[in-house]
Amino acid sequence: MQRFSVRASLLAAALVAPALSWGACAAAASSRADVAPRDLYRRRCSACHVPRDPARYDFATLNRFLDRFAWRAGVTDDEKPIIREFLKSSARDAAPVAAK
Ligand code: HEC
Repeated sequence: MQRFSVRASLLAAALVAPALSWGACAAAASSRADVAPRDLYRRRCSACHVPRDPARYDFATLNRFLDRFAWRAGVTDDEKPIIREFLKSSARDAAPVAAK
């Protein structure tokens, strides 16, 4: 399993690297890891409307909108899972968070 996960992360790095360099050109705003997921969501998903409050939608719906709007919102391949996780934890049907 150890071997597999090392390989998997190498593969992931190989897949993400080109996406990063492409994203640098395609998305004007910065998309570095120091940006909080919530801020990333607000930045990307407010181009056409005020960012929707995720708590008003279930995750399946949010996920659909993420996939639908990602490319028009300038969401890069590396940002998408970050925003997805944020939506998952903020959705109406999110699992309760133990500690805040
Ligand atoms: C290219 C423009 C555009 C971008 C960028 C965009 N949206 Fe939207 N979005 C729309 C339009 C148009 C509607 C439908 C009209 C409305 O409700 O304002 C909409 C509606 C929504 C709704 C409400 C749907 C409903 O029926 O209540 C959600 C949720 C949503 N968008 C999520 C997102 C998320 C998440 C992102 C970021 C990935 C995003 N949007 C980025 C254009 C956009």
